[in-house]
Amino acid sequence: MTIKRFALEDAETLSQLATDTFYNTFKGTCTDEDMDGFLFDYFNIEQVKKELADAEDYFHYVDIDGKAVGYLRYKKQANNDLTFLENRNALELKRLYVLDEYHGKGIAQALTNFFLGIAKKEKYELVFLGVWEHNYRAQKFYQKIGFEDTGHTHPFPIGNTPQTDLWYWMFLNK
Ligand SMILES: CC(C)(COP(=O)(O)OP(=O)(O)OC[C@H]1O[C@@H](n2cnc3c(N)ncnc32)[C@H](O)[C@@H]1OP(=O)(O)O)[C@@H](O)C(=O)NCCC(=O)NCCS
Repeated sequence: MTIKRFALEDAETLSQLATDTFYNTFKGTCTDEDMDGFLFDYFNIEQVKKELADAEDYFHYVDIDGKAVGYLRYKKQANNDLTFLENRNALELKRLYVLDEYHGKGIAQALTNFFLGIAKKEKYELVFLGVWEHNYRAQKFYQKIGFEDTGHTHPFPIGNTPQTDLWYWMFLNK
């Protein structure tokens, strides 16, 4: 298992992986129309290329025998609008998605460890993420790793379907 960074020329692979994993995670939780709109808006090739061209926007994936089986995204950006962070130096894990058939195999753990390594090396005080309130597998996974529920939430609508995400965080100096 190796972890690599997606490059601009990988836009099609990332677009497909992001589409497949998001669909599998959230199918049935919103209307088909909302799902189709979300998949197009966020994962169309032009949007993915734009994000990959941003040097501060990081997409890393696990490569197994030449196949991308899971990926994460983090982006170095100001988080001043998130008041619960109280201006702490914090890095958000913006996405973590693994193909269904690779769940429970340590892929997510490897990606998260990689992310935590970066955050520690770069002296962030804490890392944080949003997780859907009914995504119990992901919540269990994050808790297993050491994330805690902050008690704060934010809306994460899929099209016209309202959904609520919980903010989780982990302090790195513990
Ligand atoms: C979330 C994700 C990255 C976790 O990776 P994973 O390889 O599945 O994680 P693990 O198997 O190591 O851990 C999941 C834990 O949840 C448990 N679990 C599984 N289904 C569960 C459920 N319905 N309710 C509660 N816990 C559950 C598992 O038993 C396991 O705990 P254990 O190791 O103590 O047995 C992966 O499942 C995934 O990509 N899911 C789809 C995308 C997604 O939800 N991403 C997160 C967006 S915030």
